[in-house]
Amino acid sequence: MLIPILILLATLLVLVVMYVVDDAVRVLNARAGLPASGGMRWSKRIVWLILLVVFAQFFIPSTWLEPPPPQVATYGADSLWTGADTTRLVYLPKEQRDLVRYGRELIANTAHYLGPNGVVMRNTNALNCQNCHLDAGTKPWGNNYGAVWSTYPKFRARSGSTETVAKRINDCVERSLNGTALDTTEREMRAMLAYMEWLGSGIEKGTKPKGSGIVELAFMDRAADPVHGAEIYTAKCESCHGADGLGQLKADGRTHQFPPLWGDGSYNDGAGLFRMSRFAGYVKTNMPQGVTWEYPQLTDEEAWDVAAYVNSQRRPSKDITGDWPDIAAKPVDHPFGPFADTLPETQHKYGPFGPIAAFKKKQTTAAP
Ligand code: HEC
Ligand code: HEC
Repeated sequence: MLIPILILLATLLVLVVMYVVDDAVRVLNARAGLPASGGMRWSKRIVWLILLVVFAQFFIPSTWLEPPPPQVATYGADSLWTGADTTRLVYLPKEQRDLVRYGRELIANTAHYLGPNGVVMRNTNALNCQNCHLDAGTKPWGNNYGAVWSTYPKFRARSGSTETVAKRINDCVERSLNGTALDTTEREMRAMLAYMEWLGSGIEKGTKPKGSGIVELAFMDRAADPVHGAEIYTAKCESCHGADGLGQLKADGRTHQFPPLWGDGSYNDGAGLFRMSRFAGYVKTNMPQGVTWEYPQLTDEEAWDVAAYVNSQRRPSKDITGDWPDIAAKPVDHPFGPFADTLPETQHKYGPFGPIAAFKKKQTTAAP
């Protein structure tokens, strides 16, 4: 406020001087009997203009001049959540901004920092978080993080406990990335949390933005078929992920151009994608690379069948005996017993899932 007032006073002073000088010149000219000159007509107009502009800005609403709030979610009731506006990052305090940026970078290039040849630590497998949480967790139905900050901490039946965001991140570190949980005081964990918090600001607590997570495909009446899935794999996936499913390593030897879908470098059998509905839903709206929920390429059946093929290949195993303490809470496609129903384990893996869902429904409605 001080600077505009000073400019205003200075401009006024200049104007007064100009008028006084002009007047003096006019009087002197008249005395000397010379014809009157035009004076500083144009210079004065310019100074008037400056005066006007400086004056006018006192009437501009103050909100126009303030920096925008640090974050506004680009999401409305009808529109899909498409992530946070990165240009607004500059309004965060430097320390926090650096942490958010580092968190985003870790999610995009996890293997570079934490992978088998990681520059920070050697902990995780060949995958980046972003391989499964597309566009750093912002793509609509690209398994995005839209609902993370607004819905955690929450109770999760898999662990039978209330999970914080840090615990949920570590779930993926231990399963999808087949590594060891990070300490919550570690800079890498703090950075990923800062990124999640920043992504989630502007999203009301308890709400799930439209387009967050993975789409839910309708169950098929039959079991998913790995033999048919193999044909789809050859036709639509192999060119990038390889006939051996190991993907394609980049020249830097640290990260992959195309991530592995099975084998030692891929997610373990305790991971979310090992469940058929997660894999099929993810692939439906995101694979082959480049498709979106609006323009998918696979039919639902193809998505289920290719899921059956990929999730029948060899991959690391995790001890998950502590999972699902309440067996009745197991999702229909959790492939490991014991189960609350008497249906065979292969059905829990490949389907048909309808009868399992019906059994679950009967159990919950029959309960007193
Ligand atoms: C192999 C694929 C894969 C990788 C890699 C992966 N995740 Fe996940 N992640 C999943 C799946 C699948 C889910 C469960 C989604 C669902 O059930 O809708 C999930 C869920 C999550 C959630 C909870 C989302 C929610 O809305 O409840 C968070 C947070 C998360 N992952 C963070 C991470 C972070 C951070 C990394 C990297 C350190 C990572 N994930 C790596 C597949 C992956
Ligand atoms: C044009 C190349 C390409 C094709 C074809 C393709 N993918 Fe992918 N896939 C990718 C890339 C690249 C990523 C990682 C995306 C990212 O990081 O943004 C990926 C990620 C994945 C992931 C999650 C990460 C992992 O390794 O588990 C799965 C699952 C997957 N693809 C399955 C498939 C399936 C199934 C098909 C065939 C229907 C397929 N992809 C076809 C390039 C491709």
